[in-house]
Amino acid sequence: MIVWSVANQKGGVGKTTTTVTLAGLLSQKGHRVLLIDTDPHASLTTYLGMDSDNLSHSLFDLFQLKEFSEARVKALIHQTTIDNIDIMPAHMSLATLDRVMGNRSGMGLILKRALLALRDKYDYVLIDCPPILGVMMVNALAASDRILIPVQTEFLAMKGLERMVRTLAIMQKSRQRPFKVTIVPTMYDKRTRASLQTLTQLKQDYPSQVWSSAVPIDTKFRDASLKHLPASHFAAGSRGVFAYKQLLIYLERLAQDEH
Ligand SMILES: Nc1ncnc2c1ncn2[C@@H]1O[C@H](COP(=O)(O)OP(=O)(O)OP(=O)(O)O)[C@@H](O)[C@H]1O
Ligand SMILES: [Mg+2]
Repeated sequence: MIVWSVANQKGGVGKTTTTVTLAGLLSQKGHRVLLIDTDPHASLTTYLGMDSDNLSHSLFDLFQLKEFSEARVKALIHQTTIDNIDIMPAHMSLATLDRVMGNRSGMGLILKRALLALRDKYDYVLIDCPPILGVMMVNALAASDRILIPVQTEFLAMKGLERMVRTLAIMQKSRQRPFKVTIVPTMYDKRTRASLQTLTQLKQDYPSQVWSSAVPIDTKFRDASLKHLPASHFAAGSRGVFAYKQLLIYLERLAQDEH
C-alpha cells in the first residue's frame, strides 16, 4: 500500500483536483484506491457526488474509535460510483477536532494506525488535505510515504510554498524518516510571464523536489467536477489529464525505486 498526501496551506492551488485525477488514473489501471477527505469543507466528498451533511459515518468517527481493527475502520468507508475507488468522506465536524482533542497524546497518529489495518485492502491511499495546519494535516503527513504539494504557477505562489516547507521542517523534528516531497506546478499558462517565472523559480529553489513538467490550465477540470467525475473519466484525452498521466508515471517510478 502506497500512501500519498496532497497538501498545501495555500487554498485553491489544485489539491482536490490533483487527488481526484490521480485516483481516477490509478483506478483505470486496475489499482484499488482509497481516498481520504480530511477537509471539513468536504470538497472531495462533494466532488464525488456525496452529501457530506447526511452521512451515516465519516472520517470524524475514526477519531472516536478505541481500537483500529480492520472491521471498525472499514465500516467508515463508502463506495463511490467509480470502479476501484472508495472514500472515507469528510464531515464538517472535523473542524471541531483541533479544539476538542487537539492536545491528546497520540492524536497525530490515528490515521496512520487506521491505514495499517487496511494495508492489504488497497494499493493506493490518497489523502486530500485542507489548506490549514491542524490535527488533520498532521495526521495526513504522518501517515504518508510522500507529500505532493501542488503549487499554482502565479505570483505569490512561492510564499505559500515556503510556508508549507517550513511546516514540514517543524514536523520533521518529531520523526526519524525524512519526508519525501514532490512539488507539482499547476494551472500553468505558458502565455503568461508569471507562470514561466514561477516555474523557473521552482526549478531553481527546489531542483530535486519539483516535478520538471506542469499541469496546464484546462477548463475540463471544472467541467469534470460539475459531473462528479475524475477528469480521467470525463475527458480522458484532454491535455490536463495527459499531464497527470505523466506525473503518475514519474511518481510510480519514484515509488518503485524506493521499494
Ligand atoms: N489545471 C487546472 N486548470 C484549470 N482549473 C483548475 C486546474 N486545477 C484546478 N482547477 C480548478 O481550480 C479550482 C480550485 O481547485 P481545487 O479545488 O482542486 O483546489 P484546492 O487546493 O483543493 O482548494 P482548497 O484549498 O479550497 O481545498 C477548482 O474550481 C478546480 O476545478
Ligand atoms: Mg481542496
